Amino acid sequence: MEERMHLPDTVDLDEKRRALVIIDQTKLPGRTEMLYLTEQKDIFEAIYLLKVRGAPAIGVAAAIGVYLAAMEIETDDVKIFTEKFQKAKEYLASSRPTAVNLFWALNRMERVVLEHPEESVLQLKERLHREALEIRKEDIRVCRRLGEYGLTLLHEGDGILTHCNAGQLATTRYGTALAPIHVGREKGMHFHVFTDETRPLLQGARLSAFEMAADGVETTVICDNMASSVMKNGWVQIVFVGCDRVAANGDTANKIGTSGVAILAKHYGIPFYVVAPTSTIDMNISSGQEIPIEQRRPEEVTEMWYQQRMAPEGINVYNPAFDVTDHDLITGFVTEYGIVYPPFDEGFIRLFEEKNAKGI
Ligand code: MRU
Repeated sequence: MEERMHLPDTVDLDEKRRALVIIDQTKLPGRTEMLYLTEQKDIFEAIYLLKVRGAPAIGVAAAIGVYLAAMEIETDDVKIFTEKFQKAKEYLASSRPTAVNLFWALNRMERVVLEHPEESVLQLKERLHREALEIRKEDIRVCRRLGEYGLTLLHEGDGILTHCNAGQLATTRYGTALAPIHVGREKGMHFHVFTDETRPLLQGARLSAFEMAADGVETTVICDNMASSVMKNGWVQIVFVGCDRVAANGDTANKIGTSGVAILAKHYGIPFYVVAPTSTIDMNISSGQEIPIEQRRPEEVTEMWYQQRMAPEGINVYNPAFDVTDHDLITGFVTEYGIVYPPFDEGFIRLFEEKNAKGI
C-alpha cells in the first residue's frame, strides 16, 4: 500500500485538438480512459452522465466547454457573438442543477464577454481562453490550500470517514475533502480512510477507494448502512466531506446520504467537517431550503450494477442525488482562507470580505 501513483489531472484543455479532456469516471476503477470532447452535446452529456463529476470539476469542465463553444462562433459582430455565447452558456448550465460551481464558472465566463463590449470578437475569444485556464489553475491552487488547512485537523494514524468522492477526481487536482489526505501523504503521514460506498452511483466504492489506494492510503470500503457500526467501534476520528452548494447560513447540500453521516457523527461525538472552496458557498441563498435538488433516473437505483433488475417492475423509486445537512450538525468548514466555525452566517461574511481584499 506504500506505493503511490499519480493520476492525470481530472479536467484539462487540449489546445491542439481544441478539446475538453476528462477522465471518463464511469469507467473507473476498471479503466483509466481519457475522453477528448469537442462537441457541445458531448460535453453536456459528459456532465449529465457523470463522466466528469464533483462540483469543482464540473465548473472547470463547463468553463472550458463554453470557451470551446465560443471558438466555434463564426461572426465578427459582437452582438451576435454575445447572443450565441449566452445560448451556449445556458445549454451547459442546464446539465445539472445542484452544484453551484457550474453556474459560478459559467457566470465568470459570461462576465468576461459582458464587461468588455468595446472589444472585438477575436479579443473576447482570447479573454475567454485566459479565463477558462485561470479557473482551472485557481481550482488547483485552492484545493492545495484546502489540503493544507485540512491537514491541521489530522493526526498520524487517524481514521477518517468520507462519503461520495470529493477527491482529486471531483476537482482538477488534490480534491477537497480528500486533499488533506493527499497532502498528508506527501509529508509521509498515514491514515485509514473509510469510504462509504455511496449508493446508488457508488462514487465512494469506485472512485474514492480507487483514488485513496492509488495514493497508498489504507482504505476500507463500507456499505452506507455500516457507518454507524464503524463509528461505534471507535475507528473514526474525523469525518471529511465535500459539498455541492452551501447556503449563507451553513446548510450544505452534498451527495445523498451525507446528512445521515452528519447525524451519526454528532451522536458519536465525532467532528464533522465540510471541505469547501468559496466558489461552492452561495451567499445568494439564505438556507438549504432554497437549494435545488437534482432528481435522477429510477434505473440508477433498480438496475445499475446488478446483473438483472432487482426491484419489481413499475415500483416507485425516489432518487434524489443530494441532501441538505443542517448547519448545526457541522463542526466547521475548511476553506482556502482557513477554517470557519459557527456561527457560519457571520463567519462567511468575514470570509468573503477577506476574499475580496486578498484574492487567491
Ligand atoms: O453526483 P456527483 O458525483 O457529482 O456528486 C458529487 C458530490 O456530492 C461531491 O461530494 C461534491 O460535489 C464535492 S466534490 C469536491
